[in-house]
Amino acid sequence: MEIDKDAVWVKFAVMQKFMSDVFRGLGVPPADAAVCAEVLITADKLGFDSHGVSRLKPIYYDRIKQGIQFARTKFKILRQTPTTAVIDGGHGMGQVIARRAMELAIKKAKRYGLGMTVVRNSTHYGMAGAHALLASRAGMIGVTGTNARPSVAPTFGVENMLGTNPLTFAIPTDEKFPFLLDCATSTTQRGKIEVYAKLGRKMPEGWVIDRNGRSKTDPSEVLVDLTSGAAALTPLGGAGEDMAGYKGYGYCTVVEILSAALQQGAFLNMLTGSENGKKVPYRLGHFFLAIDIKAFTRLASFKKTAGTILRQLRSSRKMPGARRIYTAGEKEYLTWLAREKRGVPVNRETQREMIAMRDELGLTQYKFGF
Ligand SMILES: NC(=O)c1ccc[n+]([C@@H]2O[C@H](COP(=O)([O-])OP(=O)(O)OC[C@H]3O[C@@H](n4cnc5c(N)ncnc54)[C@H](O)[C@@H]3O)[C@@H](O)[C@H]2O)c1
Repeated sequence: MEIDKDAVWVKFAVMQKFMSDVFRGLGVPPADAAVCAEVLITADKLGFDSHGVSRLKPIYYDRIKQGIQFARTKFKILRQTPTTAVIDGGHGMGQVIARRAMELAIKKAKRYGLGMTVVRNSTHYGMAGAHALLASRAGMIGVTGTNARPSVAPTFGVENMLGTNPLTFAIPTDEKFPFLLDCATSTTQRGKIEVYAKLGRKMPEGWVIDRNGRSKTDPSEVLVDLTSGAAALTPLGGAGEDMAGYKGYGYCTVVEILSAALQQGAFLNMLTGSENGKKVPYRLGHFFLAIDIKAFTRLASFKKTAGTILRQLRSSRKMPGARRIYTAGEKEYLTWLAREKRGVPVNRETQREMIAMRDELGLTQYKFGF
């Protein structure tokens, strides 16, 4: 995604420490604050700018202050078998709940080859890939998804019913980076629209439709309309059937079911975060799957085959005018290489938010270049 020309770069270590201190300032225990900051900085490092520091204030800081998300996470296992677990997140910190749920899936997979955990009553868990990567780093295939507040219309519909529901895979390869497919099952997601709004830029046609099914491109307007229900995001593939939007709609629905039905949690319009005009916890659901490759074949052989598939795709014939073919996870690796020395680009709006949080929490030790 394009970077704001007024962006100020903040080194990774400073940003991570600042975010951790903000979480601590809100009452998140130190170890949990470190996990939350790590998930956010992973997004910033890999270029998922919609899910890094830009989310710190609106999604976490404000919600904890509003009392609809709790700084202290009570992670309760409701039932489990050797390979599965159902967890209640108690409206704690989504990143912490996700971390512990994926770690539990990995632990089960180490012993039995597969592990799957599902969560109810959680909060926004951030960049889905940050959780899937835990599994790929352990030599496993990691899969995760989450439901989210309703903003996506079903094919032939205009009402925002489904969340942007990412369906995310992290797969180890013999390359320097894993295969990481980390994206929403909608054409776009709210975080990206927030970034467009912060940059004051129009969005491409087809991302969002109004009640008449017409495209809307003003991001600030869209953010308001998505909440009021006057606009909806299109599923992956777009509105109608011409570009196969029903496939995105189908995958989005799969994620909704896996995020709600196994754990008997909330779904669709139960996830608006509001009841009788009052803000309430979002009650999100997630699922985590860890597949131990060693239960199937030698890890090195798997990585080699996976890597070969990716290399063959990248070296296939290109479209006229195209410079290169990418595979998922590659752009993120390149972004990380490019940012390693400079850090995180912070746009104007996020700069203002960081200053406000710093001043409110008295974190006077932080002197940013803005
Ligand atoms: N927690 C939530 O409720 C929630 C909801 C939606 C999205 N998200 C997160 O938002 C982030 C961004 O989601 P998004 O939908 O905007 O993602 P996106 O549209 O930016 O797509 C990113 C994915 O596409 C791959 N990719 C990009 N260009 C490619 C190319 N030319 N060839 C091959 N692969 C390519 C990337 O490697 C990456 O895996 C993700 O981290 C996601 O988990 C979270």
